[in-house]
Amino acid sequence: MDISIIGSGYVGLVTGACFADVGHNVFCVDNDERKIEALRAGRIPIYEPGLEEIIHRNVSAHRLHFSSSIQEGVEKSQIVFIAVPTPQQPNGDVDLSFIEKVSREIAGVLTSYRVIVDKSTVPVKTGERVAETIKRYNRHGAKFDVVSNPEFLREGCAINDLMQPDRIVIGAQSQHAVDLMKKVYEPFMAPILVTDISSAELIKHAANSFLALKISYINAIAAICEVSGADVEKVADGIGTDRRIGRQFLNAGIGYGGSCFPKDVAAFIHISDQLGVPFDLLREVQRINAAQKERFLKLIRDALWVLREKKIAVWGLTFKPDTDDVRSSVAIELISKMLSEDAHVTVYDPKGMDKARELKTIAGAKFAASALEATDGAEALVIATEWKEFANVDLAEVKRRMTTPIVFDGRNLLNPETMGELGFQYHSIGRAQIIPR
Ligand code: UGA
Repeated sequence: MDISIIGSGYVGLVTGACFADVGHNVFCVDNDERKIEALRAGRIPIYEPGLEEIIHRNVSAHRLHFSSSIQEGVEKSQIVFIAVPTPQQPNGDVDLSFIEKVSREIAGVLTSYRVIVDKSTVPVKTGERVAETIKRYNRHGAKFDVVSNPEFLREGCAINDLMQPDRIVIGAQSQHAVDLMKKVYEPFMAPILVTDISSAELIKHAANSFLALKISYINAIAAICEVSGADVEKVADGIGTDRRIGRQFLNAGIGYGGSCFPKDVAAFIHISDQLGVPFDLLREVQRINAAQKERFLKLIRDALWVLREKKIAVWGLTFKPDTDDVRSSVAIELISKMLSEDAHVTVYDPKGMDKARELKTIAGAKFAASALEATDGAEALVIATEWKEFANVDLAEVKRRMTTPIVFDGRNLLNPETMGELGFQYHSIGRAQIIPR
């Protein structure tokens, strides 16, 4: 199939690369000419395991092309995917102006039938708006169908999620559009769920909100574990082995972050309010997530008493491991709060350093060259992201380097018993606190 993808950000680029890898001819379009030039020169703007190799392979095979012209993309493809950002506004609503603009631009160059597919995460009813807009600006009166095809890829394992999806959701009104979409996804050999457009849009918001709810649920349980002496990991194992519940997304920690969950939960709350059916359960999910960070900061303050002038090492800047993405990262929020209390913070992250250096909110932090170096002379170590690398650091050496060996593990990455045996004071989430005698 000939496919174009408008928007070469995270979703657009990964999707385009994987579509090309299964044999489609793909045009990745972006209005950022510098980005397109870089991609043409073989430079990949984001870190995602395996992505660079797939892009290079498919560019060499002439199946993957980059363009800054929507017209070229639309002319050369049967199916046009929209994968532009839908940023959050201060009131929780989603800014759909990029979607609207791209819809107008597509309409302006539409000369014959195309399927226009919305892949960006959008509130229910957006598909209807896209169809209205294209109809209004469709100068040549060309036929078209609008489809909703939400993505479910996770940063850090996006290639695998895309290549081996649990399901493909196609929300469409016309059988012809469904048939074409099935051809796009045939090589992936995954279950395909065909729905109306609104249901497909809702599936995306409902899925992400449910996962966020699972995280807040286990974090609320963690708070109860802390005051009752229970162990949240054991509770999660105990309930997670029930196949109706499942163990995934029951890892207690300092809360969810990233560019999706916080935004999608807020957007779902907003659209539900607008539709006159307030979704208060999700408000509680948000509240627990915010409280989790505060509880962790309280743990740090209670143990250190005063943060002012304390040397604190922080491992982790990204919102989760295996990505360089620091957007809405809980780690960044924590660092920013500790800096505002005049702590001396030294940070390290395997992939997130470059992007974090650009953030004004943590401008006062020092950047170390390694996880170990960050702990030199530290009075406390905070683990904010669960990179595997951190679990393999020589902890005896960490202890030697620290002035006072106190560890706050916000991701339950380390083993409390081992930490106790090594002589650390060790605090984690929803588990026994280890205080050496
Ligand atoms: C999420 C969804 O998992 C994807 O299915 C979806 O496609 C994507 O959003 C999107 O809408 O584009 P992502 O934001 O990449 O993917 O990250 P997740 O792996 O879901 O993690 C989100 C946050 O939850 C991270 O901060 C992570 O540390 C936290 N988390 C996750 C927990 O605190 N506990 C868990 O058990 C799992």
